[in-house]
Formats: sequence, structure tokens, C-alpha cells
Amino acid sequence: MEYRKSILVINGPNLNRLGKREPGIYGEKTLDDLQVELERAASKLFLDVTFRQSNIEGEIIDYIHDSSDAFEGIVLNAGAYTHYSYAIRDAIASVVVPVIEVHISNVHAREEFRRESVIAPVTIGQISGFGFDSYKLALQFFGNDLKMGE
Ligand code: DQA
Repeated sequence: MEYRKSILVINGPNLNRLGKREPGIYGEKTLDDLQVELERAASKLFLDVTFRQSNIEGEIIDYIHDSSDAFEGIVLNAGAYTHYSYAIRDAIASVVVPVIEVHISNVHAREEFRRESVIAPVTIGQISGFGFDSYKLALQFFGNDLKMGE
């Protein structure tokens, strides 16, 4: 059977409110819709995806720690923790699994505090502002196994 990479998608605080939460910014679709879309995208890319959502910083840290043996990549929308959680930053730095930071909205086009990401320096990179496609672009990176500069 064909080998499929396993990717963990982690959604942080308030992302369980998608669809109800500030639809002008985050859209009308729900977290369940996101999961359905990502499963479809992942199957085309021959990836297996696992989903986690938590509003609790420590749980997100545990997901990252536990990813080491089971996953080959993490797509992380850390929500507002992106901007101030040194603990999540250190959790990412503590594992070898590559992490891509994603955001639904363009964090650079919003309030000043959203422009800073304390996790960005320990990720492969940040994809921000493409709605649910931000996650799909991250999956595409893992699916294609792109290596920048080659
Ligand atoms: C977000 C952007 C963050 O600034 C915000 O706190 C979120 C969602 C996004 O996906 O656009 O909760 O990560």
C-alpha cells in the first residue's frame, strides 16, 4: 500500500466558534466545514490528517509534544496565542516535527498586536489571509514535500 504522510491540524482558542464568530472576518463556515474541506484536500495530496481543537494553552502544548512519534508535520492556527504564547513557541522548538503557522485572516492587515507572531521564528513559515485556503496551502507544502531553494 502507498505510504501516506500523517499531518496534525491544530486549531487554538475561539476557532470552535467559526461560523458564529465575527463572520465578516472569519467567514460563515464552521470548524466542521473546515475539517470536511481539509479531509478532501488531504486525500488528493495522499495525506492523512488528524484534527485537534482546544481553547486551552496547555492542551495545545501537549498536542505538539505528543506529535513527535505520530506525525510528520503540523499545521497550527494558534489563534490569539500566536501573538504572546512563549510556552507554545517553546513547545514547537522542543520537537523536530515541522510546523506551519496558518491564519484565516491577514493578521498583518488588522490590529497592531496581531502583527507580531512569537511562534513564527520556530516554524517553517506563516500563511495568513487566505481563509480556509491558508490550511490547504500548508497541506500542499507537506504533500508536495517542497524544499525551498532546490
Ligand atoms: C487568527 C488570527 C488571530 O489574530 C486571532 O486571534 C484568531 C484567529 C486567524 O485565523 O485569522 O483567533 O489566528
